[in-house]
This record gives sequence, structure tokens and C-alpha cells, in this order.
Amino acid sequence: MELKGKNVIYSGGFGGIGQACIKEILNSGAKHMTIFDLVENKEAMIGFKKSYPGATIDFIPFDMRKKETITAAFKTAKAKMGHFDVLVNSCGIMMDSEVDLTIQINLMGLIHSNLAALPYMDKSSGGRGGVIVNISSVACLEPPPLYPIYSASKDGVKAFTRSMADQVYYDRFGVNFITICPGITDTPMSEGFYTRVFFKFVEEKAQALAKAKQQPVDVLAKNIIKVMETGKNGGVYMLNLGNIEEITFPKFWEATF
Ligand SMILES: NC(=O)c1ccc[n+]([C@@H]2O[C@H](COP(=O)([O-])OP(=O)(O)OC[C@H]3O[C@@H](n4cnc5c(N)ncnc54)[C@H](O)[C@@H]3O)[C@@H](O)[C@H]2O)c1
Repeated sequence: MELKGKNVIYSGGFGGIGQACIKEILNSGAKHMTIFDLVENKEAMIGFKKSYPGATIDFIPFDMRKKETITAAFKTAKAKMGHFDVLVNSCGIMMDSEVDLTIQINLMGLIHSNLAALPYMDKSSGGRGGVIVNISSVACLEPPPLYPIYSASKDGVKAFTRSMADQVYYDRFGVNFITICPGITDTPMSEGFYTRVFFKFVEEKAQALAKAKQQPVDVLAKNIIKVMETGKNGGVYMLNLGNIEEITFPKFWEATF
């Protein structure tokens, strides 16, 4: 979907990937940007508003652990923006030491965010359709053994997003669903993540993984925007070390009716 003139909600917008993507989305000519996050990053907001005076930029606080705050954030966003065309779900943590929290934020919160946005986008009830981009990880494609909880949460994101891309939903809602799987990227999340393993005995191995080559966040952000603009409904895209690769899946099973 072309981003020029569009109204966009970016959840987790003050994270490393979030801030870089928001700049690119605004560079592409988005008209209205609403950022959802736990707390406002006032410095980043001032920077966005100064750099993009032609766009309207708002912040709405919410907490991915609390469904009612997610629902309320979309209600407020709809009231402020009139409508929105694009939602990017980028909130996430890599903290296997906190099992419930990881699933709560990375998977449950993301599902609630998708479900809360849909009624406003739903073409069959007066919405305009659009695109929902869910940020997963390469960990959903090839689970790194050191982070089983994070991998499970991100695999869930991919499964949910692919399922929501089914034709039966598209015909009703007119919303495209895209999964993005970044490789390791230079952001606050990738700092010291080896300390946040569940099994302490793998910490040394995890420390070695932390030295793996990382892609710069601005390179990833440019590629995320390319996928947002050209990706297809149900597409799963690996964005690793500056490359974009569409992932195809063999059909292991099909329902017979
Ligand atoms: N950085 C990487 O190497 C990498 C690789 C693959 C996938 N990802 C995924 O990309 C997304 C963004 O990662 P990032 O590197 O920008 O991380 P980040 O830590 O810089 O940003 C995460 C964002 O999520 C928000 N957040 C966390 N808990 C929240 C909560 N309870 N409620 C609301 N917001 C909350 C934070 O405030 C922050 O803005 C995540 O989903 C992450 O899993 C990152």
C-alpha cells in the first residue's frame, strides 16, 4: 500500500525499530501518525514534529499487558484520526527469563491489538480496509535454541497473521495482513540480551550469539517500508542483513470439507 497521504498507527513507536520506521513512513508522505507506547518519549516526539511539520503526529499511551488499554487506545486514535489505513505492531520484549510476560506482550497483546483495530478498518461495516503489519522475528522461521519462549511467541505471531490473511477474512474486512521477520538488528533490544535467557547455563552461548553480525536499524526500516508498500496479503518476509526475502511454506496439511 502506498503510504503517501495515509493515516498510520505505529505501536511500540519509541523502540529502536519503531523510531526508525516512523521516520521512513513520514518520509514516504504519511499524513497522520499516531504512536502507541508504554510511555511518551518527549524528545523523540519533538524531533518528529520538527522534522515533519506537514504531518499530524500524536501519542497515545497503552500497555500491551492490559487488554482494556489496547481497546481504549484504538478508540482514542479513531476519534483523533477519523480513520486509519495502516497499523504496525512493533511492541516486543526478548526476555525468556520472564515467561508469562513474554507471551503476554509479544503474542497476547499483539492479538488483542489486531482484534481491537479490525472493527475500525472493516470494509463491511463502513471502514476503509488497509494493512496490518505484525513484527515477528527470524526466530519464528528457525527457532534459536537459546530463546524457546521468545521463539514460541514469535511463531504465534506468524501463525496468527497468516491465518488472518485467509481469503474469507479479506473478503469481509478488506485488510491485508503481513508478517515481518527481522534478523538481529542494532537496537536497545539487542543490547545484553544474553542475560535474559531462561536456562542460565546457556548464557555463555547466548553471549557468543550477541556478537553475531547485526543489521543497522535504518537499513531494516527502509526494507520494512518497502514491504509495507509492496508486500502481499499473507506474505511472510525475512529482513536480514539488509536483504528482503519472501518466505514460502510447504503445504503439510489442508482441511477437507
Ligand atoms: N532488535 C532486534 O534484533 C529484533 C530482531 C527481530 C525482531 N525484533 C522485533 O521487533 C520489534 C521491535 O523491537 P526493537 O528492537 O525496536 O525493540 P525495543 O526494545 O527497542 O522496542 C520495543 C518497544 O516495545 C515497547 N513495549 C515493551 N513493552 C510494552 C508494553 N507492555 N506495552 C506497550 N509497549 C511496550 C517499548 O516501550 C518499546 O517502544 C519487537 O517485536 C522485536 O521482538 C527485534
